[in-house]
Amino acid sequence: INRYTVIGQPIAHSLSPVVHQLFGELTQRKIHYTRTEASPETFADTVIDWQKSGARGCNVTAPFKELAVEVSDRLSPNALRAGSVNTIHMHRDGSRVGHNTDGLGLVADIQSNLRRPLEGQRILLLGAGGAARGVMAPLLATKPALLHVANRTASKAELLSSLFEDLGAVSGSGFEELEGWDKFDIVINATTVSMNGGLPPLPEDIISHQSLAYDMTYSTRDTLFMGWCKARGASASNGLGMLVEQAAEAFLIWEGVRPKTRMAFPRLRELIS
Ligand code: ATR
Repeated sequence: INRYTVIGQPIAHSLSPVVHQLFGELTQRKIHYTRTEASPETFADTVIDWQKSGARGCNVTAPFKELAVEVSDRLSPNALRAGSVNTIHMHRDGSRVGHNTDGLGLVADIQSNLRRPLEGQRILLLGAGGAARGVMAPLLATKPALLHVANRTASKAELLSSLFEDLGAVSGSGFEELEGWDKFDIVINATTVSMNGGLPPLPEDIISHQSLAYDMTYSTRDTLFMGWCKARGASASNGLGMLVEQAAEAFLIWEGVRPKTRMAFPRLRELIS
């Protein structure tokens, strides 16, 4: 039986064990998936001990995704670009390969589940922290017309966009500079404001009734950001689909098969409602 865990702080409410256990059933793989709490001081040893116990891998969540880069021997191209790791594959020879499946999960949810093509679209990404950086390369790989990063601290948005200039049409600014811009097709919230019940300060006319608002924060109720966008006619989604799809990408890395996520959603919605 292959063992996995998700390491974070706090970790008690993580849905990853439920999602992966469901994937195991759907693909008829015997897996056991647990939650593990760590601290910044104990994180590296927690990973190493987990591997020594014979486990095949772990997921890493806040606030350890950057630390997980250090504890990996090699990085996938996406993890290297993201500067963070959410999935560690533990090999029998003792090596650890760090991957980042967050961006692929976001893209899969928007394109496959929400049926919104990203190619040729104008995308606005709110936030310039680790979560935003983690999804930049996979978003640009879909060839949007523009990926604009807006952040409270404008300099961080400019720096982040400059790091990805070689991958496509990217730019960065503060929120105020969005005033007067053409509307965006897709607006993705990668700030942490939704977790604290806040709202990014967006200009009124940044979205239309044709826009999709995507909040990477997972919550059972609509976030303020989703409500704000819906009030202006846009459709809105939270990050549950991204959570499921990034997990499916991790499962693929570990088990060699990508679960049919469509089959997982009804059971999941039931379990978390
Ligand atoms: P994560 O790893 O989840 O991305 P992070 O790296 O701390 O977390 O980044 C948090 C993001 O949310 C940043 O873009 C931050 O903006 P700043 O770079 O200006 O700090 C944004 N953020 C946090 N609180 C915010 C608030 N009250 N209003 C607007 N943006 C906020």
